[in-house]
Amino acid sequence: MTASPPVDSFDLVIFGGTGDLALRKLIPAMYHRFLDGQIPSDSRILGVAREATDDAAYRDTLKKALLEGGGNKQQIDTFLKQVHYRPLDARKDEGWNEFAQFIGEQPEHIRVFYLSTSPELFTHICNRLGAHGLNKGKSRVVLEKPIGHDLASANEINKDVARVFDESQTFRIDHYLGKETVQNLLALRFGNALFEPLWNAEHIDHVQITVSETLGVGRRGSYYDHSGALRDMVQNHMLQLLCMVAMEPPASLAPNAMRDEKLKVLNALKRIDSTNAAQLTVRGQYRAGASEGKSVPGYIEELGEGKKSNTETFVALKAEIANWRWAGVPFYLRTGKRLPSRLSEIVVAFKHVPHSIFDASAGTLAQNRLVLRLQPDEGVKLWLTIKHPGPGGLRLRHVPLDMSFAEAFGVSQPDAYERLLLDVVRGNPTLFMRSDEVVAAWRWADPILAAWAASGEAPRPYQAGTWGPSAAVALIERDGRTWSEDSDDE
Ligand code: BG6
Repeated sequence: MTASPPVDSFDLVIFGGTGDLALRKLIPAMYHRFLDGQIPSDSRILGVAREATDDAAYRDTLKKALLEGGGNKQQIDTFLKQVHYRPLDARKDEGWNEFAQFIGEQPEHIRVFYLSTSPELFTHICNRLGAHGLNKGKSRVVLEKPIGHDLASANEINKDVARVFDESQTFRIDHYLGKETVQNLLALRFGNALFEPLWNAEHIDHVQITVSETLGVGRRGSYYDHSGALRDMVQNHMLQLLCMVAMEPPASLAPNAMRDEKLKVLNALKRIDSTNAAQLTVRGQYRAGASEGKSVPGYIEELGEGKKSNTETFVALKAEIANWRWAGVPFYLRTGKRLPSRLSEIVVAFKHVPHSIFDASAGTLAQNRLVLRLQPDEGVKLWLTIKHPGPGGLRLRHVPLDMSFAEAFGVSQPDAYERLLLDVVRGNPTLFMRSDEVVAAWRWADPILAAWAASGEAPRPYQAGTWGPSAAVALIERDGRTWSEDSDDE
């Protein structure tokens, strides 16, 4: 990203400016872009939240967070001169006139309103922005996920936001789309002639998408307990990854060309509801265990004393896409908190060769697998069968052609938010979700949530530091397959 030119002057307003996302991701992302000289010196970043604090105290908090992230004190101080704070309550009138005045000081600036708040506040904030005329001209609004809690609330939000901002001004963020390796999937699929002829049900046996985390819910319990893994990870991040793997080649990278293709995939997902959810989905909740060598509490203990919860912290499911390209090819999705490692990976497993010419003594033939490692150690591996070197007869080995981004390019990958925030300033919506995509994703997720609720069953317990409930293993093994463990040899 270092070669990109600076953007036009802008004001970035972060609603939820004292929240976890602002402190951990948004402000550090802007700081890194600042270090690369991409933030014009008259641009302003404004944190907004209910807390009655001021510029100086806000800058202190941010400084601490940036120093913990390894920033340089002097550079941080220079960056923070561009950062301000205003206390505001989206539900009350006070403070909005002053806020509008502050924004009005730089009328020629691009204005980005980033709503990093609970979705219930989106309507209130947009209405206030509209009432003060702040939706006019070069204004953009960014909606952080989750957009709603289900199909009905997502529709409601889309409608309310659309009363104030045009679709062209509305950026629904899914930060997985800003990850370098996710975009690399586009380059890999559509920049190489090699894959497309094989990219279909005739040659692909199945696809696995795993997003595992070692962290528990920590301080986010009150948000997470109303959400759960399906709403928090699957409805958005994992479905977007699935779309990037499964979509037809778009005619170009024009925003709507790509989003049209993703939408078709979402609309073709087979319905999972109370008739088949028990066979196709597994939900789990972690209990106390060990993570990265330390003992850790269970989910319920993390929520706090006296709490009960049926919220899932783990989901595994088998999705299918009902179209010509993918008929009969399962997409196994798996995500959870407090799993053994932090890993995001897409595995495309190809079919076995139609006939083996090798003796049993040569060993077994394994499937070719294309593994896209999103994080950590971003890279691409293609597993091939070769002959074990040496004179000892023909013995088969399964080895990877292995490309690590760090080794190949020697640069660390920019955080997804760095790219996406500047894409908003530039007005480029390619890597953002259109409202119909969000709606289609909820349309698929809603019946699953309803089936779980109707079953009355609690999520299956799993010990922290393990790969979820054993039923998740059974889910894939029933089909004669196993979850990929990407060891260096097989
Ligand atoms: C967020 C979820 O959208 O993504 C979190 O709300 C999750 O629960 C996070 O931890 C994972 O993002 P990343 O980039 O760390 O894989």
